[in-house]
Amino acid sequence: MKTSLTKSPAEAAEVIKRGGIVAFPTETVYGLGADIFNESAVAKIFEAKMRPGDNPLIAHIHDLGQIYDLTTRLNSNAERLVARFFPGPLTIVVDRSDAVPLIATAGLETIGIRMPKLTVARHFLSECGTPIVAPSANLSGRPSPTTWTAVFEDLNGRIDCILQGDPAEIGIESTVVDCTSPNPVLLRQGAISFEQLRSEIPDMSVFTGSETLAVRSPGLRHRHYSPTAKVVIVSPGKAPLSALQAAYIGLNVPPRPTAFILSRLCLSIDEYAKAVFEFFRECDRQGVQTIYCEKVAEPGIGAALMDRIRRAADG
Ligand code: TXA
Ligand code: MG
Repeated sequence: MKTSLTKSPAEAAEVIKRGGIVAFPTETVYGLGADIFNESAVAKIFEAKMRPGDNPLIAHIHDLGQIYDLTTRLNSNAERLVARFFPGPLTIVVDRSDAVPLIATAGLETIGIRMPKLTVARHFLSECGTPIVAPSANLSGRPSPTTWTAVFEDLNGRIDCILQGDPAEIGIESTVVDCTSPNPVLLRQGAISFEQLRSEIPDMSVFTGSETLAVRSPGLRHRHYSPTAKVVIVSPGKAPLSALQAAYIGLNVPPRPTAFILSRLCLSIDEYAKAVFEFFRECDRQGVQTIYCEKVAEPGIGAALMDRIRRAADG
């Protein structure tokens, strides 16, 4: 398959209307989209990414009215989250309507819904005129793509089109909240922090258990975000003095900067979050064997950043 490149949201939307799959920018990471109501197009997403069929997709909308193409009603918690955080880096999980094909939800009776904030994404979604299901536009298990070139690296020849935009502003995937039970549950950390969610819904909890994890959010148990290099978490000031083919990313200068063939100093946790996935990819391109990641404090987006780094370290 030939992958076309375009900067035009309208041109990219034409590909969707013909039943194709298109990678597009959002403020979190690049997504790989298909028309949610076109089952064979949705199937192509799983094939292109080599994504396990039991990992559900998020439906992306540009207009709040589209929520009712996907679910029959929102409970008061879901309504509150939509009013406060849409558009933005939040995904709510709600009961799916019968119109939503099961392939999109990986057989679940629920559907994740998100309204991106990025202008180019909203233009694209509005030209599509239908909710677009989109996982991150990487090969399954690889770090999420924060640039169109990272999408190209993983998926050139496997997808129909890439809508070329700027590097993603946030760099880490959306916060996912399950709103189907009376007390909503945070399933995946993201740019909307637990503290922010709590200020809107005080009895929100963080999902910790593992027994029901498979049911709650199948994606959480798959291998994720892993570069080929080994990822090691270090406390500030504790990076090694010498290492073979090693790289370093963090907020503070490591004790011996020359120990690393590649290093990235970030001025803030936001900048660290924005840089981390592309840094992992750059390390793989350069044949780095070990990536030392400096630990950060966990309020705000620090929690999401540490969650992704821990998963990469476990992978
Ligand atoms: O920021 C994002 O969320 C990006 C952009 C493209 O929007 N998308 C993204 O999609 O990260 P993906 O497929 O890589 O991650 C979706 C996560 C997975 O952990 C999945 O299990 C969970 O959301 N999820 C989706 N639908 C769900 C559902 N119905 N119930 C529980 N978890 C769900
Ligand atoms: Mg993903």
